[in-house]
Amino acid sequence: MSEANSQATSTVLESGHQSYIQNYGNASLVIDRGEGCRLWDMNGKEYIDLGTGISVTNFGHRHPEMEKALQEQMGKVWHTSNLYYLETPIRLAEQLIASSFGERVFFCNSGAEANEAAIKLARKFASATRAPENRTILTFEGSFHGRTLATVTATAQPKYQEGFEPLPAGFRHCEFNNVAALEAAFDDSVCAVLLEPVQGEGGVNPAHPGFLKRIRELCDANDALLMVDEVQCGMGRSGHLWAHEIDGIKPDVMTLAKALGNGLPIGALVAGPKAADVLQPGSHGSTFGGNPLSCAVALTALRLAKDDDTLDNVARQGHTITSYLEGLDRELSLFKEIRGRGLMLGAELNDEYAGEAGAIGKHCTEHGLLLLQAGPSVVRFLPPLVIDEATVATAMDRFEKAIRAWLAERATS
Ligand SMILES: Cc1ncc(COP(=O)(O)O)c(C=O)c1O
Repeated sequence: MSEANSQATSTVLESGHQSYIQNYGNASLVIDRGEGCRLWDMNGKEYIDLGTGISVTNFGHRHPEMEKALQEQMGKVWHTSNLYYLETPIRLAEQLIASSFGERVFFCNSGAEANEAAIKLARKFASATRAPENRTILTFEGSFHGRTLATVTATAQPKYQEGFEPLPAGFRHCEFNNVAALEAAFDDSVCAVLLEPVQGEGGVNPAHPGFLKRIRELCDANDALLMVDEVQCGMGRSGHLWAHEIDGIKPDVMTLAKALGNGLPIGALVAGPKAADVLQPGSHGSTFGGNPLSCAVALTALRLAKDDDTLDNVARQGHTITSYLEGLDRELSLFKEIRGRGLMLGAELNDEYAGEAGAIGKHCTEHGLLLLQAGPSVVRFLPPLVIDEATVATAMDRFEKAIRAWLAERATS
């Protein structure tokens, strides 16, 4: 690392610390460029990216087909608003419908915005038959649905809500994967259930087999909407194009964002027959929704996510990483549980190491590996869906070295 590069990094970091509102805390890395499964910082140091910008760059950085699609669209038109139709977003809507239970699509810019639209849609759906006090939306402990006031209220984790009261009314929270609690919480006032088929931020918790089926039955019996948040677990990440397919159910609404744009901002709400005609002209909107640049990239991302080769690779590499972690655990007794679906994996630390996922992450960064936490005690792996055997092997080698360095540091402190 040259003296000049190191100085440039320090200057950018210092400027970031000074000029950003401090809602994220301070970063210690300045990323300069990316290619495929790798990123490089301003000092030229290389990292394998097993975080994918929180399940966004599923097909790696600067995917050549996506760059081509983006350049083609850039040469045509960037923005018109939804006062006019554009072909590219319409093609994307068609493709989303053809690949799912959906009949119609609404585009926006982020996961929170897609969930906000789902919440509004559920309320509008219920407004035809129910008084406002009977329009409750049921969500689950450990969930994460976004940071707007309504989505943070749907997010049944107090740490995201504290200080932002008064929170909007009409939400009820229930224990995840507990059928008895679900049945007890489900009364006539519930007009919709919103859940992640695999919870991400809450610790990488897949829905137990049959849980979504039971929710579907209760929604049907109560004329309520089943809404799945596939912002993190969708787009092939679970080994299926949509994670709700694992339980063989059809939801009424699905929200998407993150990997749909592989790095360009986009959100989408896909509505099935029961929900497709609820939002009528003037009821909802978004200036940038359906931006053609994002949609041009998303068309490629969706085509690749559906591809059998992609989904086979997700299953194969997910299995390899899990086996690797199990092997390391047999030797070092690190984990309470290794869980997840496909390439959405969480390794929960033993009680002895509880709260140390962040420290492990720091050692991984030093060893050229970027990964995430899901809460203080879960090390989270969200690799690109196109990662190959050799890159997984190098990444796991770096992970092991990082773990040994962390254990050695612990032993001496
Ligand atoms: C399941 C889920 N829903 C919604 C969101 C919010 O998405 P965004 O940050 O794009 O608003 C996230 C973000 O992590 C998420 O994981």
